[in-house]
Amino acid sequence: MSQNKIVACKTHEVAPGQQKIVQLDRFSVGVFNLGGEFHALLNVCPHKGAALCEGPVCGTAAQTDERDFIYCKENALVRCAWHGWEFDIKSGEFLVDPSIKAKTFPVSVEGEDVVVHL
Ligand code: FES
Repeated sequence: MSQNKIVACKTHEVAPGQQKIVQLDRFSVGVFNLGGEFHALLNVCPHKGAALCEGPVCGTAAQTDERDFIYCKENALVRCAWHGWEFDIKSGEFLVDPSIKAKTFPVSVEGEDVVVHL
């Protein structure tokens, strides 16, 4: 766990399925609430540098064994507004190529505070 712990917001400020963008030191950070579990991503898209965390929290379409697609991973992804790349909020992984990652930060909840470890 990193040494630099900063209170990003209060838990009640980010509803489930929502995000809040905060400035922490020199970083713009998106704090996401996934069903009561908090995660943090650097607000910079690894593709071309857009404000990744301003994109919608969403799911995605996945192909089945048939010729169908299903909607899955609902509210587990953020979709960059510039070119639509989808990132897993927990891991930061780009769905199409997991070797490309958005920067994540560890998060802890201390009382009512959401604390990001930079
Ligand atoms: S800058 Fe984010 S998908 Fe291109």
